[in-house]
Amino acid sequence: MTNAESENLKSKITSLKREKNAVIFAHYYTRPEIQEIADFIGDSLALAQHATRVQADILVMCGVHFMGETMKILCPDKKVLIPDMAAGCSLADSCKAEDLAVFKAQHPDHMVVSYVNTSADVKALTDIVVTSSNAKKIVDQLPADAKIIFGPDHNLGSYINSVTGRNMLLWNGACHVHSRFSLEALMELKRENPGVEVLAHPECKGPILAQSDVIGSTKALLDHVIKSPAKRFIIATESGILFEMQRACPDKQFIPVPPEVTEGVGCSCNECEYMRMNTLEKVYDCLKNEEPQMSVDSQIAKKAYDSIDRMLRMS
Ligand code: 13P
Ligand code: SF4
Repeated sequence: MTNAESENLKSKITSLKREKNAVIFAHYYTRPEIQEIADFIGDSLALAQHATRVQADILVMCGVHFMGETMKILCPDKKVLIPDMAAGCSLADSCKAEDLAVFKAQHPDHMVVSYVNTSADVKALTDIVVTSSNAKKIVDQLPADAKIIFGPDHNLGSYINSVTGRNMLLWNGACHVHSRFSLEALMELKRENPGVEVLAHPECKGPILAQSDVIGSTKALLDHVIKSPAKRFIIATESGILFEMQRACPDKQFIPVPPEVTEGVGCSCNECEYMRMNTLEKVYDCLKNEEPQMSVDSQIAKKAYDSIDRMLRMS
């Protein structure tokens, strides 16, 4: 698409948005042009919190499927649109509700804490949802002797165990983007850039986190680069966040950690292809046609609401 076509589409989206009293939400991992047209950009927690406060008839969630579901569960009376229903999440897919139900039955004395990157069906089997922003804060509030199943992200679960001193039973799921950062490449970047801080998302593997100075959600990493006096940072998370970091700090430099490339397979970039499925054309089409529309089974939504609401109250 040429620049002129893209600008034209952006202005058509802006007009449609006004006409239909719609608000566009975007996650930090979406394409730069999506972040440019968004009314609100945030991490998973901020997106959910903002959805409960906003006054609009239509909410467009530019992110991935579970984010649209969470929004619909929190705002059942609003029309929630998602530009591409096929925008999934490898981490959410690594925990199927039927498998979690079996695991729960095997551990009847455990409560379930689930990362927000899960389907509504999994949230309905969950006691408390957490995000990477509030996982430590929420786990710290649980009784010291509570037995906990934590899923689906094994890397985040191990990290939370290490910072809380808990021994939660971990599901063995992972995000394909965050688990493929190359430790070798990170060590090389550290050698080439002595003294430069490494910032990582807790979905990264333990050895990457062990080499990091700051570990946090996308919003926490963004806040850190804004307030830090440093001028250069090494970043281990999905590269979409670099757009917002650069926009907030035009005078600073962000060095992305590349992923491992295994022979024959692998990707030479650290992008989440699901997040990139949100395009200007799809945002325009979904606003114009008011579809695809998110819907969640009412029984599932009711149970999932309770586990998300507990999170929002404890955040
Ligand atoms: P945040 O909670 O930091 O927004 O992360 C969501 C996500 O999908 C990370 O891969
Ligand atoms: Fe899911 Fe990973 Fe993409 Fe985040 S980056 S949406 S966890 S696949």
